[in-house]
Amino acid sequence: MKRSTVKELLGATEIDREVLLKGWVRTRRGNNQVAFIAINDGTIIHSIQVVADLGSFAEEEMRRVTTGSSISVTGTLVESMGKGQSVEIQAKEIEVLGDSDPELYPLQKKGHSFEFLREIAHLRFRTNTFGAVFRIRHALAYAIHKYYNDKGFFCLHTPIITASDAEGAGAMFKVTTLDLDQIPKNEEGEIDFNQDFFGRQTNLTVSGQLEGELGALALSSIYTFGPTFRAENSNTPRHVAEFWMIEPEMAFYDIHDNMDLAEDFLKYLIKYTLDHCLDDLEFLNQMVDKGLLERLRFVLDHPFERKSYSEAVEILMKADKKFEFPVEWGLDLQAEHERYLVEEYYKRPVILTDYPRDIKAFYMKQNDDGKTVRAMDVLFPMIGEIIGGSQREEELNKLQNRMKEMDIPEDELWWYLETRKFGTVEHSGFGLGFERLIMFITGMSNIRDVIPFPRTPRSAEF
Ligand code: 4AD
Ligand code: MG
Repeated sequence: MKRSTVKELLGATEIDREVLLKGWVRTRRGNNQVAFIAINDGTIIHSIQVVADLGSFAEEEMRRVTTGSSISVTGTLVESMGKGQSVEIQAKEIEVLGDSDPELYPLQKKGHSFEFLREIAHLRFRTNTFGAVFRIRHALAYAIHKYYNDKGFFCLHTPIITASDAEGAGAMFKVTTLDLDQIPKNEEGEIDFNQDFFGRQTNLTVSGQLEGELGALALSSIYTFGPTFRAENSNTPRHVAEFWMIEPEMAFYDIHDNMDLAEDFLKYLIKYTLDHCLDDLEFLNQMVDKGLLERLRFVLDHPFERKSYSEAVEILMKADKKFEFPVEWGLDLQAEHERYLVEEYYKRPVILTDYPRDIKAFYMKQNDDGKTVRAMDVLFPMIGEIIGGSQREEELNKLQNRMKEMDIPEDELWWYLETRKFGTVEHSGFGLGFERLIMFITGMSNIRDVIPFPRTPRSAEF
């Protein structure tokens, strides 16, 4: 007989038939005569109840049916008399596939803290909360590809190993095959990367944007969706050293087109999750964050506020609130400032534009005021910055001047500059942090709980 999943069985319209089910035992209740076994196989948040009349099963086998064990059940799918479920399985045959010692199994019935579950990240997928989070993560990954595919964008796989640190987005992880015990040095006493695998110094990428631009300046609209790496030593609930980023890049887009796309994209993803993952969202709304569904629907129903960085600084300076970090034109905004604007002042997502050029990357389009660039950050409730992007500088000489000012060597980026020499056009793009998106959509408050195996300072266990 073909195995049915819990999802298929709970959604079944046809009952009173033989079924085969395999999964893990969540709980077992009952008495000497009958056992009620809740089976979950991760295909859906709910478990299905298996009813076993103990008289008809070998005692030895039934003793092994404990929390955490895996079992195979053949039986009849019947209408359930119990509360809270529509169908259940009246078991005919039960086979234990894998034992689980109840004394040692770390997932007990009582609720565990997320901190504890991080220490057993290899097993936390078996909890309701993490099942929901990772099903939603999958749905969003799929929805992202669908969104761009339907819009005629091309998925471009940009390299993970790069030789340039152009973004300046943070410290980079080095990639090398040199023997660390015997690092070769040149005559000047510097590390001789000539002898390294690529014949030069290489790193893990902090962003696929620069290569993405090359694609957009031929294919019109592309997006990257891949892992990125930042070796900042920041232990916050919103940073990991390895995260996934979605970076669309569009030729013939100015910053307004870019903002329209970012808002439409985020709303599409929220709506997609509400339409396709409602039972997981309802669970999270009940167990993790009581305001979740309301917040998702609110963001969906309201236009994002669009303001300049300078306007935001003025509002923050007038705010009768003590911030930990200083507010002054020219300084970068901190999460506390971003969240004040979104949660207390505008009470909706905000897109800030035209940031001081000195706090932004070299490639952003320079405004005529000589002080600001066409940057845009999308700020979200609970999260702060969820998207960072800009219109790009398409004029060769302006780009070269800015690189000189910032000490970025032209010979490292000759290929990037060539796109401005040969048929340059206005273009724009942005980067959405995938984990920050999942935090917003699931209500999980720590980024370590929305990526299967988080990488943070001093932590790379699994
Ligand atoms: O603002 P960032 O640094 O922008 C870029 O990398 C641009 N190249 C994007 C582009 O224009 N194509 O990063 C973009 C987003 C942030 O808004 C944030 O959501 C996320 O990436 N992010 C992180 N997420 C988790 N952990 C970290 N350490 C992150 N750093 C950035
Ligand atoms: Mg940023």
